[in-house]
Amino acid sequence: MIRSRIVSTGSYLPQRVLKNSDLEKTVDTSDEWITERTGIRERRIADENQAASDLAYEASKTAIERAELKAEDIDLIIVATVTGDMPFPSTACFLQNKLGAFNSAAFDVNAACSGFLYALYIADNFVKSGIHKKVLVVGTEVLSKVTDWDDRATCVLFGDGAGAVIIEPTDEDRGILSMHINSDGRMWELIQLPGGGSRNPASCDSVEQRLHYIKMKGNETFKVAVRTLEELVIKTLEENNLDSSRLSLLIPHQANLRIIQATAERLKLPMEKVIINLDRYGNTSAASIPIALDEAVENGRVKNGDYILLEAFGGGLTWASALVKW
Ligand code: ACO
Repeated sequence: MIRSRIVSTGSYLPQRVLKNSDLEKTVDTSDEWITERTGIRERRIADENQAASDLAYEASKTAIERAELKAEDIDLIIVATVTGDMPFPSTACFLQNKLGAFNSAAFDVNAACSGFLYALYIADNFVKSGIHKKVLVVGTEVLSKVTDWDDRATCVLFGDGAGAVIIEPTDEDRGILSMHINSDGRMWELIQLPGGGSRNPASCDSVEQRLHYIKMKGNETFKVAVRTLEELVIKTLEENNLDSSRLSLLIPHQANLRIIQATAERLKLPMEKVIINLDRYGNTSAASIPIALDEAVENGRVKNGDYILLEAFGGGLTWASALVKW
Protein backbone atom coordinates (compact mmCIF):
# COMPACT_ATOMS: atom_id res chain seq x y z
CA MET A 1 0.00 0.00 0.00
CA ILE A 2 1.36 3.41 -0.97
CA ARG A 3 1.08 6.16 1.62
CA SER A 4 2.50 9.64 1.64
CA ARG A 5 5.13 10.58 4.19
CA ILE A 6 6.58 13.84 5.50
CA VAL A 7 10.28 13.33 4.74
CA SER A 8 11.57 16.74 5.87
CA THR A 9 10.54 20.02 7.46
CA GLY A 10 11.75 23.63 7.54
CA SER A 11 10.60 26.91 9.02
CA TYR A 12 11.40 30.59 9.03
CA LEU A 13 10.50 33.32 11.51
CA PRO A 14 11.28 37.00 10.89
CA GLN A 15 13.81 38.45 13.33
CA ARG A 16 11.81 41.36 14.72
CA VAL A 17 10.16 40.51 18.04
CA LEU A 18 7.07 42.39 19.24
CA LYS A 19 6.41 41.78 22.93
CA ASN A 20 3.18 42.22 24.87
CA SER A 21 4.88 45.09 26.70
CA ASP A 22 5.34 46.85 23.32
CA LEU A 23 1.59 46.56 22.63
CA GLU A 24 0.83 48.01 26.08
CA LYS A 25 2.26 51.25 24.69
CA THR A 26 0.00 51.40 21.62
CA VAL A 27 -3.41 50.00 22.67
CA ASP A 28 -5.38 49.68 25.92
CA THR A 29 -4.15 46.22 26.93
CA SER A 30 -1.78 44.57 29.38
CA ASP A 31 0.78 41.78 29.30
CA GLU A 32 -1.28 40.10 32.04
CA TRP A 33 -4.52 40.15 29.98
CA ILE A 34 -2.84 38.83 26.82
CA THR A 35 -0.91 36.10 28.64
CA GLU A 36 -3.88 34.92 30.72
CA ARG A 37 -6.46 34.97 27.90
CA THR A 38 -4.26 33.67 25.08
CA GLY A 39 -0.90 32.33 26.32
CA ILE A 40 0.89 34.67 23.87
CA ARG A 41 3.92 36.61 25.16
CA GLU A 42 5.50 37.83 21.92
CA ARG A 43 5.25 37.43 18.15
CA ARG A 44 7.50 37.94 15.11
CA ILE A 45 6.92 40.74 12.61
CA ALA A 46 8.13 40.70 9.00
CA ASP A 47 10.12 43.59 7.52
CA GLU A 48 8.31 46.13 5.40
CA ASN A 49 9.77 44.58 2.24
CA GLN A 50 9.03 40.93 3.15
CA ALA A 51 5.99 39.27 1.56
CA ALA A 52 4.55 35.79 2.10
CA SER A 53 6.67 34.20 -0.64
CA ASP A 54 9.89 35.56 0.92
CA LEU A 55 9.16 33.80 4.20
CA ALA A 56 7.99 30.70 2.32
CA TYR A 57 11.25 30.66 0.33
CA GLU A 58 13.41 30.51 3.48
CA ALA A 59 11.34 27.70 5.03
CA SER A 60 11.20 25.77 1.74
CA LYS A 61 14.95 26.00 1.10
CA THR A 62 15.56 24.29 4.45
CA ALA A 63 12.97 21.56 3.83
CA ILE A 64 14.35 20.85 0.32
CA GLU A 65 17.95 20.67 1.61
CA ARG A 66 17.01 18.36 4.46
CA ALA A 67 15.22 16.04 2.02
CA GLU A 68 18.49 16.00 0.02
CA LEU A 69 16.63 17.23 -3.05
CA LYS A 70 17.20 19.94 -5.60
CA ALA A 71 14.48 22.48 -6.39
CA GLU A 72 14.04 20.94 -9.85
CA ASP A 73 13.09 17.58 -8.23
CA ILE A 74 9.87 19.10 -6.82
CA ASP A 75 6.84 18.24 -8.98
CA LEU A 76 4.12 20.14 -7.09
CA ILE A 77 4.07 23.21 -4.83
CA ILE A 78 1.03 23.96 -2.68
CA VAL A 79 1.07 27.12 -0.59
CA ALA A 80 -1.50 27.75 2.13
CA THR A 81 -1.91 31.42 2.94
CA VAL A 82 -4.45 34.22 3.49
CA THR A 83 -1.78 36.90 3.13
CA GLY A 84 -0.38 36.08 -0.30
CA ASP A 85 1.94 38.51 -2.06
CA MET A 86 -0.93 39.62 -4.38
CA PRO A 87 -4.48 38.41 -5.19
CA PHE A 88 -2.83 36.89 -8.27
CA PRO A 89 -0.51 35.42 -9.41
CA SER A 90 -0.46 32.83 -6.65
CA THR A 91 2.16 32.97 -3.93
CA ALA A 92 3.04 29.41 -4.98
CA CYS A 93 4.12 30.76 -8.41
CA PHE A 94 6.26 33.45 -6.77
CA LEU A 95 7.79 30.73 -4.59
CA GLN A 96 8.40 28.46 -7.57
CA ASN A 97 10.26 31.29 -9.30
CA LYS A 98 12.40 32.07 -6.23
CA LEU A 99 13.30 28.40 -5.78
CA GLY A 100 13.84 27.72 -9.49
CA ALA A 101 11.51 24.73 -9.14
CA PHE A 102 10.42 24.83 -12.76
CA ASN A 103 9.42 21.16 -13.03
CA SER A 104 6.48 21.76 -10.71
CA ALA A 105 2.91 22.93 -10.91
CA ALA A 106 2.15 25.51 -8.25
CA PHE A 107 -1.03 26.81 -6.65
CA ASP A 108 -2.40 28.35 -3.45
CA VAL A 109 -4.99 27.14 -0.96
CA ASN A 110 -7.10 29.45 1.19
CA ALA A 111 -8.54 27.83 4.30
CA ALA A 112 -7.28 30.38 6.86
CA CYS A 113 -5.74 28.70 9.91
CA SER A 114 -6.62 25.23 8.59
CA GLY A 115 -4.84 26.00 5.32
CA PHE A 116 -1.73 23.94 5.91
CA LEU A 117 -3.74 20.81 6.69
CA TYR A 118 -5.97 21.41 3.66
CA ALA A 119 -2.83 21.68 1.52
CA LEU A 120 -1.42 18.54 3.12
CA TYR A 121 -4.69 16.73 2.35
CA ILE A 122 -4.36 17.61 -1.33
CA ALA A 123 -0.68 16.60 -1.38
CA ASP A 124 -1.47 13.34 0.41
CA ASN A 125 -4.09 12.38 -2.16
CA PHE A 126 -1.94 13.36 -5.16
CA VAL A 127 0.96 11.31 -3.79
CA LYS A 128 -1.17 8.28 -2.85
CA SER A 129 -2.71 8.28 -6.32
CA GLY A 130 0.76 8.23 -7.88
CA ILE A 131 0.26 11.51 -9.76
CA HIS A 132 2.94 13.44 -7.85
CA LYS A 133 6.05 12.15 -6.11
CA LYS A 134 7.81 15.09 -4.50
CA VAL A 135 5.46 17.72 -3.18
CA LEU A 136 6.41 20.90 -1.33
CA VAL A 137 3.65 21.96 1.06
CA VAL A 138 4.01 25.37 2.70
CA GLY A 139 2.09 27.50 5.18
CA THR A 140 3.17 31.14 5.11
CA GLU A 141 1.63 34.29 6.56
CA VAL A 142 2.44 37.96 6.96
CA LEU A 143 -0.58 38.70 9.13
CA SER A 144 1.05 41.85 10.55
CA LYS A 145 0.19 43.59 7.26
CA VAL A 146 -3.56 42.88 7.57
CA THR A 147 -3.77 43.42 11.33
CA ASP A 148 -5.57 46.49 12.63
CA TRP A 149 -2.97 47.77 15.07
CA ASP A 150 -5.62 50.00 16.67
CA ASP A 151 -7.93 47.05 17.49
CA ARG A 152 -6.85 45.54 20.80
CA ALA A 153 -9.19 42.57 20.33
CA THR A 154 -7.18 41.26 17.36
CA CYS A 155 -3.77 42.96 17.24
CA VAL A 156 -2.48 41.02 20.24
CA LEU A 157 -3.16 37.67 18.58
CA PHE A 158 -1.30 37.41 15.30
CA GLY A 159 2.28 36.99 14.09
CA ASP A 160 4.28 36.26 10.92
CA GLY A 161 6.17 33.13 9.86
CA ALA A 162 6.39 30.19 7.46
CA GLY A 163 6.77 26.42 7.66
CA ALA A 164 7.35 23.86 4.90
CA VAL A 165 7.38 20.09 4.44
CA ILE A 166 8.32 17.72 1.62
CA ILE A 167 5.89 14.84 0.96
CA GLU A 168 6.97 11.68 -0.84
CA PRO A 169 5.41 8.23 -1.36
CA THR A 170 6.39 5.30 0.86
CA ASP A 171 5.48 1.61 0.96
CA GLU A 172 6.64 1.37 4.59
CA ASP A 173 4.21 1.02 7.52
CA ARG A 174 4.35 4.76 8.31
CA GLY A 175 3.34 8.15 6.93
CA ILE A 176 0.03 9.99 6.84
CA LEU A 177 -2.52 7.47 8.13
CA SER A 178 -5.63 9.57 7.73
CA MET A 179 -6.83 13.10 7.21
CA HIS A 180 -10.11 14.89 7.80
CA ILE A 181 -11.08 18.28 6.37
CA ASN A 182 -14.34 20.11 7.11
CA SER A 183 -15.98 23.49 6.41
CA ASP A 184 -19.08 25.38 7.46
CA GLY A 185 -19.61 28.52 5.40
CA ARG A 186 -22.66 29.46 7.46
CA MET A 187 -20.28 30.88 10.06
CA TRP A 188 -18.13 32.87 7.60
CA GLU A 189 -18.76 36.11 9.51
CA LEU A 190 -16.85 35.00 12.61
CA ILE A 191 -13.42 35.58 11.05
CA GLN A 192 -13.02 37.68 7.91
CA LEU A 193 -11.02 40.24 6.00
CA PRO A 194 -13.84 42.01 4.14
CA GLY A 195 -11.92 44.42 1.88
CA GLY A 196 -9.93 44.03 -1.31
CA GLY A 197 -11.96 41.27 -2.98
CA SER A 198 -14.81 41.54 -5.49
CA ARG A 199 -17.37 42.08 -2.69
CA ASN A 200 -15.69 45.25 -1.39
CA PRO A 201 -13.01 46.26 -3.90
CA ALA A 202 -10.24 48.55 -2.71
CA SER A 203 -11.32 52.19 -2.70
CA CYS A 204 -10.73 55.26 -0.57
CA ASP A 205 -13.99 54.37 1.14
CA SER A 206 -12.94 50.76 1.90
CA VAL A 207 -9.68 52.01 3.39
CA GLU A 208 -11.49 54.62 5.46
CA GLN A 209 -13.82 51.92 6.79
CA ARG A 210 -10.77 49.79 7.71
CA LEU A 211 -12.12 46.90 5.62
CA HIS A 212 -8.61 45.69 4.74
CA TYR A 213 -7.97 44.35 8.23
CA ILE A 214 -8.86 41.09 10.00
CA LYS A 215 -12.19 41.19 11.86
CA MET A 216 -12.94 38.47 14.36
CA LYS A 217 -15.75 37.72 16.78
CA GLY A 218 -13.26 36.24 19.22
CA ASN A 219 -15.51 34.93 21.94
CA GLU A 220 -17.98 33.21 19.59
CA THR A 221 -15.10 31.75 17.58
CA PHE A 222 -13.54 30.48 20.79
CA LYS A 223 -16.64 28.51 21.78
CA VAL A 224 -17.12 26.95 18.35
CA ALA A 225 -13.39 26.12 18.15
CA VAL A 226 -13.33 24.28 21.48
CA ARG A 227 -16.44 22.22 20.68
CA THR A 228 -15.46 21.44 17.09
CA LEU A 229 -11.87 20.48 17.85
CA GLU A 230 -12.89 18.19 20.70
CA GLU A 231 -15.22 16.31 18.33
CA LEU A 232 -12.64 16.28 15.54
CA VAL A 233 -9.76 14.74 17.50
CA ILE A 234 -11.97 12.03 19.01
CA LYS A 235 -13.40 11.18 15.58
CA THR A 236 -9.90 11.04 14.03
CA LEU A 237 -8.66 8.56 16.64
CA GLU A 238 -11.85 6.46 16.57
CA GLU A 239 -11.68 6.09 12.80
CA ASN A 240 -8.14 4.78 13.17
CA ASN A 241 -8.93 2.53 16.18
CA LEU A 242 -6.23 4.34 18.11
CA ASP A 243 -6.46 5.08 21.82
CA SER A 244 -5.19 8.54 22.75
CA SER A 245 -2.71 6.91 25.18
CA ARG A 246 -0.79 5.78 22.08
CA LEU A 247 -0.28 9.35 20.85
CA SER A 248 3.25 10.65 21.32
CA LEU A 249 2.45 14.22 20.36
CA LEU A 250 -0.39 16.60 19.65
CA ILE A 251 0.60 19.45 17.31
CA PRO A 252 -2.33 21.89 17.39
CA HIS A 253 -2.87 25.14 15.52
CA GLN A 254 -1.55 27.83 17.83
CA ALA A 255 -4.48 30.25 18.28
CA ASN A 256 -5.12 30.22 22.02
CA LEU A 257 -3.57 28.20 24.86
CA ARG A 258 -6.98 27.68 26.45
CA ILE A 259 -8.36 26.10 23.26
CA ILE A 260 -5.30 23.81 23.10
CA GLN A 261 -5.66 22.83 26.78
CA ALA A 262 -9.34 21.96 26.26
CA THR A 263 -8.45 19.69 23.31
CA ALA A 264 -5.65 17.99 25.27
CA GLU A 265 -7.98 17.48 28.23
CA ARG A 266 -10.61 15.86 26.00
CA LEU A 267 -7.90 13.49 24.74
CA LYS A 268 -6.65 12.91 28.33
CA LEU A 269 -3.22 13.93 27.06
CA PRO A 270 -0.73 15.50 29.49
CA MET A 271 0.48 18.92 28.31
CA GLU A 272 4.04 17.52 28.02
CA LYS A 273 2.76 15.73 24.91
CA VAL A 274 1.50 18.95 23.33
CA ILE A 275 3.69 21.24 21.23
CA ILE A 276 3.21 24.88 22.23
CA ASN A 277 5.00 27.81 20.61
CA LEU A 278 2.29 30.47 20.57
CA ASP A 279 3.97 32.08 23.58
CA ARG A 280 6.83 33.04 21.17
CA TYR A 281 5.06 33.39 17.81
CA GLY A 282 1.34 34.10 18.45
CA ASN A 283 -1.16 32.86 15.87
CA THR A 284 0.58 32.53 12.49
CA SER A 285 -2.53 31.05 10.83
CA ALA A 286 -1.58 28.57 8.05
CA ALA A 287 2.07 28.65 9.16
CA SER A 288 1.55 27.59 12.76
CA ILE A 289 1.41 23.81 12.35
CA PRO A 290 4.40 23.42 10.00
CA ILE A 291 6.46 25.74 12.22
CA ALA A 292 5.51 23.74 15.34
CA LEU A 293 6.20 20.44 13.54
CA ASP A 294 9.59 21.66 12.38
CA GLU A 295 10.53 22.71 15.91
CA ALA A 296 9.35 19.36 17.30
CA VAL A 297 11.47 17.47 14.75
CA GLU A 298 14.53 19.69 15.30
CA ASN A 299 14.25 19.36 19.09
CA GLY A 300 14.19 15.56 18.83
CA ARG A 301 10.61 15.31 20.07
CA VAL A 302 9.52 13.17 17.13
CA LYS A 303 10.87 9.63 16.73
CA ASN A 304 10.32 7.00 14.08
CA GLY A 305 7.12 5.07 14.75
CA ASP A 306 5.56 7.84 16.90
CA TYR A 307 1.87 8.58 16.41
CA ILE A 308 1.32 12.34 15.99
CA LEU A 309 -1.98 14.17 15.73
CA LEU A 310 -2.15 17.52 13.92
CA GLU A 311 -5.31 19.66 14.15
CA ALA A 312 -6.46 23.14 13.16
CA PHE A 313 -9.47 25.44 13.19
CA GLY A 314 -9.92 28.73 11.36
CA GLY A 315 -11.82 31.17 9.21
CA GLY A 316 -14.39 29.82 6.76
CA LEU A 317 -15.13 28.22 9.09
CA THR A 318 -12.74 25.39 8.40
CA TRP A 319 -11.22 22.64 10.54
CA ALA A 320 -8.94 19.72 9.78
CA SER A 321 -6.81 16.95 11.28
CA ALA A 322 -4.05 14.56 10.26
CA LEU A 323 -2.94 11.39 12.01
CA VAL A 324 0.68 10.62 11.18
CA LYS A 325 2.92 7.67 12.02
CA TRP A 326 6.41 9.19 11.86
N1 ACO B 1 -6.62 43.69 26.26
C1 ACO B 1 -7.48 43.94 27.25
N2 ACO B 1 -8.80 43.69 27.17
C2 ACO B 1 -9.25 43.17 26.02
C3 ACO B 1 -8.41 42.87 24.93
C4 ACO B 1 -7.04 43.16 25.07
N3 ACO B 1 -6.14 42.92 24.10
N4 ACO B 1 -9.14 42.34 23.94
C5 ACO B 1 -10.41 42.30 24.36
N5 ACO B 1 -10.48 42.79 25.64
C6 ACO B 1 -11.65 42.93 26.48
C7 ACO B 1 -12.95 42.97 25.71
O1 ACO B 1 -13.22 44.27 25.26
C8 ACO B 1 -13.95 42.49 26.75
O2 ACO B 1 -14.25 43.57 27.60
P1 ACO B 1 -15.76 43.76 28.17
O3 ACO B 1 -16.02 42.52 28.98
O4 ACO B 1 -15.67 45.02 28.95
O5 ACO B 1 -16.63 43.85 26.96
C9 ACO B 1 -13.14 41.47 27.57
O6 ACO B 1 -11.75 41.77 27.31
C10 ACO B 1 -13.43 40.03 27.21
O7 ACO B 1 -13.37 39.89 25.78
P2 ACO B 1 -13.65 38.52 25.08
O8 ACO B 1 -13.53 38.71 23.58
O9 ACO B 1 -14.89 37.91 25.61
O10 ACO B 1 -12.36 37.69 25.61
P3 ACO B 1 -12.03 36.17 25.45
O11 ACO B 1 -11.78 35.56 26.74
O12 ACO B 1 -13.00 35.47 24.51
O13 ACO B 1 -10.63 36.22 24.69
C11 ACO B 1 -9.75 35.91 22.47
C12 ACO B 1 -10.51 36.83 23.40
C13 ACO B 1 -8.36 35.75 23.00
C14 ACO B 1 -9.73 36.54 21.09
C15 ACO B 1 -10.45 34.53 22.39
O14 ACO B 1 -11.83 34.70 22.24
C16 ACO B 1 -9.94 33.64 21.29
O15 ACO B 1 -8.83 33.18 21.32
N6 ACO B 1 -10.82 33.30 20.32
C17 ACO B 1 -10.51 32.27 19.31
C18 ACO B 1 -9.56 32.74 18.27
C19 ACO B 1 -9.42 31.65 17.23
O16 ACO B 1 -9.34 30.47 17.52
N7 ACO B 1 -9.41 32.03 15.96
C20 ACO B 1 -9.36 31.01 14.92
C21 ACO B 1 -8.19 31.13 14.11
S1 ACO B 1 -7.89 32.76 13.47
C22 ACO B 1 -7.92 32.66 11.72
O17 ACO B 1 -8.48 31.77 11.14
C23 ACO B 1 -7.22 33.74 10.94
